[in-house]
Amino acid sequence: MLSERMQAAINTQISRELFSGYLYLSMAAYFEDLGLKGFAHWMRVQHREEENHGLMMFGYLAQAGGRVLLQPVEGPETGFDSPLDAFGKVVEHEQKVTAWINEIVDLALAERDHATASFLQWFVNEQVEEEATARELRDTLRLIGDTGPALLMFDRELAARVYSPPPEVAKWGVI
Ligand code: FEO
Repeated sequence: MLSERMQAAINTQISRELFSGYLYLSMAAYFEDLGLKGFAHWMRVQHREEENHGLMMFGYLAQAGGRVLLQPVEGPETGFDSPLDAFGKVVEHEQKVTAWINEIVDLALAERDHATASFLQWFVNEQVEEEATARELRDTLRLIGDTGPALLMFDRELAARVYSPPPEVAKWGVI
């Protein structure tokens, strides 16, 4: 059985994951407005990924005998200065998410809640990948700049992103 404190921590993280999705959907809207369809597509895929992170936590919490209590999801930022500004914010946001996940892992270890610590390990690894991808895209934008043919080529590259939910999404009974 999960402690009250752990249930609260996971419930809070569910809302943060949903907020992450909402933030990336807001970035998708920004890129749509700029006419950068590939960037917008990439952000919509990112939105689905984040939604699934929240749903995985929902599934785990319910399956582990906890009570899912959804919290308000704050409104995302809607104005970005440039594609580079948006991706710089993706990097910063993912670093924050990593710190939040680490805090919950710390709590699980302190409570000797091995099931939750094991469940969260997937997120720990996922964050390494999420941060690396965000940094790589931000750094590419730094090199190519915010306008010009290279940006359009990069847009085409991002349009090719295919979303395949990881098996863990199904494992926690959410699709
Ligand atoms: Fe669910 Fe991008 O962290």
